[in-house]
Amino acid sequence: MYAKRIHRIQPSATLEMTAKAAELRSQGKDVINLSVGEPDFPTPKNICDAAIYAMENGYTKYTPGLGMMELRVAVCEKLKRDNNLNYSPDNIIVSCGGKHSLYNACQTLFEKNDEVIIFTPYWVSFPDFISVTGATPVIVQTDPTQQYEPDFDDLKKKITNNTKGIIINSPSNPTGGVWRDNAMKKIIEMAQTHNLWLFSDECYEQLVYDTTFKSCATFSNYDKIVTFQSCSKTYAMTGWRIGYIAGREDLVKGMSRLQGQSTSCPNSIAQYAAIEALIGSQNQVQIMKSAFQKRRDFVVKKLNEIDGVNCNLPGGAFYVFPNISQLLNKQFNNTKINTPNDLSMGLVNEYSIITVSGESFGSDNNIRLSYAASDTILEDALNKIKLFINNLI
Ligand SMILES: Cc1ncc(COP(=O)(O)O)c(C=O)c1O
Repeated sequence: MYAKRIHRIQPSATLEMTAKAAELRSQGKDVINLSVGEPDFPTPKNICDAAIYAMENGYTKYTPGLGMMELRVAVCEKLKRDNNLNYSPDNIIVSCGGKHSLYNACQTLFEKNDEVIIFTPYWVSFPDFISVTGATPVIVQTDPTQQYEPDFDDLKKKITNNTKGIIINSPSNPTGGVWRDNAMKKIIEMAQTHNLWLFSDECYEQLVYDTTFKSCATFSNYDKIVTFQSCSKTYAMTGWRIGYIAGREDLVKGMSRLQGQSTSCPNSIAQYAAIEALIGSQNQVQIMKSAFQKRRDFVVKKLNEIDGVNCNLPGGAFYVFPNISQLLNKQFNNTKINTPNDLSMGLVNEYSIITVSGESFGSDNNIRLSYAASDTILEDALNKIKLFINNLI
């Protein structure tokens, strides 16, 4: 019944776990959800107030397809302020979330016979964005001990005449890894040498804890670098669906053609709120970041106190990606743990703790825990995880 392209899309593992959490809750279970990919903080009040103003003052109609001019100007102001990047509104297109921006850009540039490089462990959606265009995702290895920076020898081997682009994501979902400047420079150099598009997904840019975030495009004026950012994680605005890119004008025009015939434009009220988010007070961003940093330190410390768990300190985002390979082949209740998924399922079944197993991100040795949850919830979760793992035989 379906067109072939639908078969090329996998259901999102993280959304599946969200559904599992809802199912357990409906059975009256006290669920601890560590699978969420969104801040547990409310959207800041000044942003909500801007949306209310928009609704009461007629900003409730279609906007230009690539977003309101005032918002594209605000994006440029933000890119200058936070990232020291100089773009004009002609370089900006606003879409319905960062996911939509990535989807549109892939649709605009990639097609059958193209290869697009991503790094494992990868965000679950990257392979699908690529496959649905007919292109092939090509997976390159990374170094877990060095914030999951690329294995450049592997990268060299994987670039072919068909390679059309590279997608990078630092800070990373699922690992939280933040690449050093040198890794960024090397990637840009390779992209430029082979004339490849370089998509830099920077949606976690404000959640970098031990270093100063530098946007990929600040390292070079190579014109095939495309910067992807989003209001979702920075401003706790996941439901508002506002993301944007900064890149070449001809790319923006192509994406705008596609967007005009799919969603027409992003939501007008959310766009108005996004202007306030981007150029209004940034106080809440710092408050959320401090809370996340404290939780990261707590979660990593607690995980490393558990025998058989090894967790590197991630430099950013709100995920940890502990290595649990020493637990494979152990058992609970006569059930053998062969895979990270078995471990995740054990945690759900025994303690109603929802995590995401590494397989969906391309890893057979890890699970992903989000620390976008309160200190009390995290403490309870970590105690239960320790208990569960200590009881494995
Ligand atoms: C790496 C990465 N990129 C992009 C997104 C898209 O976020 P949104 O569509 O809410 O802007 C996410 C969300 O989880 C993400 O983790």
